[in-house]
Amino acid sequence: MMRRLPYGRQLIEDDDIAAVTAVLRSDCLTTGPATTAFEALLAETVAAPHAIACSSGTAALHLAALALGLGPGDKVVVPTLTFLATANAARYVGAEVVFADVDAGTGLLTPATLAEALVRAGDGVKAVFPVHLNGQCCDMAAIAALARSHGLKIVEDACHALGSRQHGQPTGACTFSDMAVFSFHPVKTVAMGEGGALTTRDDALAQALRRLRSHGMTRDPAEFLVPDQAFDAEGQPNPWYYEMAEPGFNYRASDIACALGASQLAKLDRFMAVRTALVAAYDRALAPLAPLVRPLPRRLDCVPSWHVQVVKIDFATAGKSRAQVMRALLAEEILTQVHYLPVHRQPYYRHLSPGLSLPGADGYYQSCLTLPLFVGMEESDVTRVCAALARVLDISP
Ligand SMILES: Cc1ncc(COP(=O)(O)O)c(C=O)c1O
Repeated sequence: MMRRLPYGRQLIEDDDIAAVTAVLRSDCLTTGPATTAFEALLAETVAAPHAIACSSGTAALHLAALALGLGPGDKVVVPTLTFLATANAARYVGAEVVFADVDAGTGLLTPATLAEALVRAGDGVKAVFPVHLNGQCCDMAAIAALARSHGLKIVEDACHALGSRQHGQPTGACTFSDMAVFSFHPVKTVAMGEGGALTTRDDALAQALRRLRSHGMTRDPAEFLVPDQAFDAEGQPNPWYYEMAEPGFNYRASDIACALGASQLAKLDRFMAVRTALVAAYDRALAPLAPLVRPLPRRLDCVPSWHVQVVKIDFATAGKSRAQVMRALLAEEILTQVHYLPVHRQPYYRHLSPGLSLPGADGYYQSCLTLPLFVGMEESDVTRVCAALARVLDISP
């Protein structure tokens, strides 16, 4: 029986299970010491002063949009080559999404595609959400320079890029952004089951994010707005008292999930080293499949923490459709995926942006295929995937 190879999966070890079990035996299942410890470790890992854990990457994006005060009448530039959640976050707060095109090679937002989107958008653009697709970094210095010259706020969608580095800084340090957003879904480099986080250098944003992830409530007397109900006759804060100036959500992460997150995060270097070695093995094993199959073009200013292993395939020349290739690989227990159908092509967004043409994203989409990459894989699995791909595409050795 051949081992089934998914395109991504978690690696949970005994010490991860022990960390979760310890929380289950403790007094605190949520918003307790395990959450604080996870946030401290994440902040240290990405060299940011603040990390705020929450229930998913999607919740983190929504919180970012809320904390920036985005709303109806505002526009947000989002690269169309991303997961649905990046664009949806703008819609949750009633803002308009302006889709930007991407580089057809890397799938990344570029200064040129951002500039084109800004011209097309006209007035009212308040923010841009660059996405570090597959673990490769956008050119953040140039994107930030352009965005700042238009007065835009910047939220990095770093859900693919935990551990990536650019200009000597970890992604999430927010050197060129207001906030960065992470996901700890099981296919990501570090798993929490469901989980997310934001990092920021901005104290006020961090405070707002903490408030908004828990109903908009504050127990901090310095923030209380209604003194006669907040304080007793001696001017002491009433012990039961909390206040809500604007409604937030319950987007908290549980201590159970954060214990898993912290245990996994402590292994980030090892997980990344395995992934990097597997990507190098793919590069070697795929070389004979050129030019029909090519690796992704690499950005030289980024040390990526690879989230997925994407290859570009010339399906037309191969005489096989992508669906045929995927089904043939599935028959060999090799599961592949497509990251992503450009979001502006989704029915909901087609309706909002009719007739929009983004050729870079379409070019990327037409040729991309995501092959298996996860920490429990061996180099022999890489050889097996590439041999199967060569067979399916009729590439002779
Ligand atoms: C680029 C990107 N943004 C946002 C998300 C949303 O994260 P989550 O699944 O944790 O809500 C994902 C997860 O798939 C993602 O890949």
